Amino acid sequence: MAVTDPVVTDHTALPHAPLREARVPADGMYEGRRTLRRLPEGWQERPYELIDVVPQGPLIGAEIRGVDLARLAPALREELNRALLEWKVLFFRGAAITAEQQRAFALNWGELETNPLLARGSADDVVRFDKGGSATPTYENVWHADVTFRERPALGAVLQLREARRTAVTPVADMAAAYDNLPDSVKERIEGARAVHDFIPGFARFYGPERLAPLQDLFPPVTHPVVRTHPETGRRTLFVNTSFTTHIVGMERAESDRLLGFLVRQAHVPEYQVRFHWQAGDVAFWDNRATQHYAVDDYAPHRRVAERVAIAGDRPY
Ligand code: SIN
Repeated sequence: MAVTDPVVTDHTALPHAPLREARVPADGMYEGRRTLRRLPEGWQERPYELIDVVPQGPLIGAEIRGVDLARLAPALREELNRALLEWKVLFFRGAAITAEQQRAFALNWGELETNPLLARGSADDVVRFDKGGSATPTYENVWHADVTFRERPALGAVLQLREARRTAVTPVADMAAAYDNLPDSVKERIEGARAVHDFIPGFARFYGPERLAPLQDLFPPVTHPVVRTHPETGRRTLFVNTSFTTHIVGMERAESDRLLGFLVRQAHVPEYQVRFHWQAGDVAFWDNRATQHYAVDDYAPHRRVAERVAIAGDRPY
C-alpha cells in the first residue's frame, strides 16, 4: 500500500477548510502543555516514619500531621526537611505555637533574619503583618520569593496566621515546575543569565523615600542567576519575581522587560500552585529557594494578622 504524504496539498480533497497560518510569537514565548514533575531527578522516595504527609495536590504542598512543632528531635527535623524538599511547602494545621516556639522551630534550619523593611513582632527576627483594619499597606499580594534583594536570600520562612475573621488564602507556586515547562528557546536565552534584584521598586509603591533611602546602603542592588540550582536537591528553579527583580543583566530594556514579564508570569500558572486556606493557629513552612507566594488581599475591612520568621539562606548559584 502506498504511504500517503502527510502534507496535504490538494485542498479539494480536504473534508474541511485548510487551516490558515496564524502568527505565534517569534521568540517562542507562548505557553502550552504543562508537564508536572514533583521530584528531582534520581530522588529516592522513602516512607516517613515519624510524620504523616498528606499531599494537598499532585505537585506542591503537603499537610504534616502528628508533629509537635515545639519539640523537634534530630530525626524529626530530618524527616521534615525531606518532606520540605519533596513538597516545597508544608502546612501544620492548628499548631498554635508561641512566637518563641516559632523561632525555636525555624532555628533548626539556621540563623534567623531581621528585616528592617517590615514591622517587628515580639523579637527583632519576628516580622508581624497586621493588615486589613488599619492603614498599613499590603504589599504581600504580589508574587514573590522573600528578600531576593539580599545577597543571600532566605532559605525558607515559617509563617503563622494569628488572627483572621474570615479564612485567608495564600497560593504558593512551584518554581521548579515553572522552569521545567519553559519553551526550549527561552531556556536557551536564560542559560547563564543573571538578573538584578532591588527592594526599592517593590516597596516604593507603598513607602516614601524617607523610609527607603536610609536602607539603600544596607541593601544595594544585587545580581542572582535567573535560574538557580537548589543546593540540597540539585534541581533548577526559576528565580526571578515581580516584587524585586528589575532587569536582566546585559539586555536592552525592551527585551529585558518582555522576557522578564514572561518569566515572572510563570508563577501565575494554576497547575504549579497549591492554595492554602488558613485558619488562625495554622503554620506554613516554605522553601524560599523553590517557591513563590502571594497573600490574597480580600479580607479588608477585617484584620489579618500573621507572624513570620525567615531563615537565612546562601548565595544562589
Ligand atoms: C509573606 O509574603 O511572607 C506573607 C504571606 C502571607 O501572609 O500569607
